[in-house]
Amino acid sequence: MEKVLRVRGGRPLRGRIMVRGAKNFVPKAMVAALLGQGPSQLTNVPAIRDVEVVSGLLNLHGVSVDYDVQSGILRMDPTDVELAHVADIDAHAGSSRIPILFCGPLLHRLGEAFIPDLGGCSIGGRPIDFHLQILREFGATVDKAPSGIHLHARNLRGAVIELPYPSVGATEQTLLTAVRAEGITELRGAAIEPEISDLINVLQKMGAIISVDTDRTIRVEGVDKLVGFTHHALPDRIEAASWASAALATKGDIFVEGANQPDMITFLNVFRKVGGAFEVLPDGIRFYHPGGELKSIALETNVHPGFMTDWQQPLVVALTQAQGLSIVHETVYENRFGFTKALRQMGANIQVYRECLGSLTCRFGQRNFFHSAAISGPTPLHATEMEIPDLRGGFSYLIAALAAEGTSTVHGIGMISRGYEAFIDKLHALDAEVELR
Ligand code: EPZ
Repeated sequence: MEKVLRVRGGRPLRGRIMVRGAKNFVPKAMVAALLGQGPSQLTNVPAIRDVEVVSGLLNLHGVSVDYDVQSGILRMDPTDVELAHVADIDAHAGSSRIPILFCGPLLHRLGEAFIPDLGGCSIGGRPIDFHLQILREFGATVDKAPSGIHLHARNLRGAVIELPYPSVGATEQTLLTAVRAEGITELRGAAIEPEISDLINVLQKMGAIISVDTDRTIRVEGVDKLVGFTHHALPDRIEAASWASAALATKGDIFVEGANQPDMITFLNVFRKVGGAFEVLPDGIRFYHPGGELKSIALETNVHPGFMTDWQQPLVVALTQAQGLSIVHETVYENRFGFTKALRQMGANIQVYRECLGSLTCRFGQRNFFHSAAISGPTPLHATEMEIPDLRGGFSYLIAALAAEGTSTVHGIGMISRGYEAFIDKLHALDAEVELR
C-alpha cells in the first residue's frame, strides 16, 4: 500500500536545494551508450524512477549498468548486447516512453528490436507515428505485434526526414538511428531543446558527425564505429522551474543549486513578469517572492526557445495567487489542464476552453480539446485530499497543498519520484511541514 504525504500548507518555502541531471536528457544518453563499442560514463545522474527503468531495460539487453547515487556516476558497458525477452521488456517499461528510443541502436547492433505498447498519459494521446515513419524511412520493417511492435532491418540507410511538428522524441529517434546509418541523414523541422543539444554533445563525443542549422535542419553523416563517452549531464531546468513556481506560490525564497540561466531564459522572463525575483549566481539561481502582488499574464507554451510546456503546470498554481486574469494557451499537448480540477476544488478560479486563446497557430483549435485556461486571482487555496494525476500535474498539486491553508493528504506520490529526485528530503530542507504516512 503506497504511503500518503500529509502536507501542512500556508508556510513559505525557504532554503537551498540542488538539482542534478535532466530527467529528459539522462535516459536518452543512456540509450546512446548502446551504440558505443566500449563502456560509457554519465555524471550528475539523479536518482529518479526514469533512470531506474532505463537501467533495467539496458540490463535486459545485456548491458551492464552500475550507478552510485551519492556521486551521481552511472557506468554502462554494452559489450554483450543481446535482444531481450519480450515479456521482460513489457514488465520493465512501466509508464516510461523511453523504450521507443531503443529501436535505432538495437537495429544497428542486432538487426531487430521489440518495443512494448507505450502508455499515453493524462496529458495527451502521446502517439508514436512520427517515430515509426522515421524508422521506415531508414529502411526498417515495422510489424504490429499483439503487445507492441516488432522491427527488423539488415542495414539502415540515411534519409531525408521532414517532421510535421518539432517533436523532441522524434528528433532523438532520428539522431540515435542516423549516427550509424549509411550515408547522410537530413532532418528538417527538428526540435532544438537544450536536452537535444546535450544528446548531440554525447553523440559527437562518441564519434558522430552532426550539424544543426539555423532553420532547424539537423544533418548527420553516418559513421562505421562509435566509441563510449564520458559526459556530465545538463541540469534539470524543469525541476528548477518547478521549485521557482513553488517559491512564488508560497511567498518563499529558494536557492536552486545547479540551475542554469541559459536554459531558462524564457522561464526567467515570465517569472519576472509575474512579479517573481531571481538572482543568478555562479552555482545556481535564487528564486524568491519579493513581496507585493503577483501579476496576471497571457502565456502560450511552445517548443524551444518558447515557454516550455512542462513549466506550465507548476506556474499555473502561482498564477492562482496573481492579481487579475491570466490566460494560458497550451499548444504542445492537447490535454494538459486536467490537473486544474483539483485546484478548483481547493478554491482556485480556473476556466478551461476548447478555443485557442492566443496568437499561436495550434493543432488543437478546431477539435474537442480543452487546451486553453483562464485563471482569475488571487484566490485563497484550502487543503484537500488529492490523487496525483501525472508527473508535472502531481508536483503542481504539491505546490498547491504547500500554498493552501490547512493540511492536505496527497495520494500517489510515487509518480513524482519519476522526475523529482529526493523531493521529500528537499521539502524538509525548505522547512516545509510534510510527513510521509
Ligand atoms: C518530451 O516528450 C518530454 N519527455 C516531455 O516531458 C516534454 O513535454 C516534450 O518532450 C516536449 O518538450 C521526455 O523527454 C521523456 P514530443 P516527447 O514528441 O518526446 C506529438 C515531462 O513531464 N507527437 O516533443 O514525447 C505529441 O503528441 C514530459 O517531463 C506526435 O503526434 O514529446 C505532442 O503533441 C511530459 N507523434 C507533440 O508532438 C509522435 O510520433 C510534442 O511531443 C510524437 C509526438
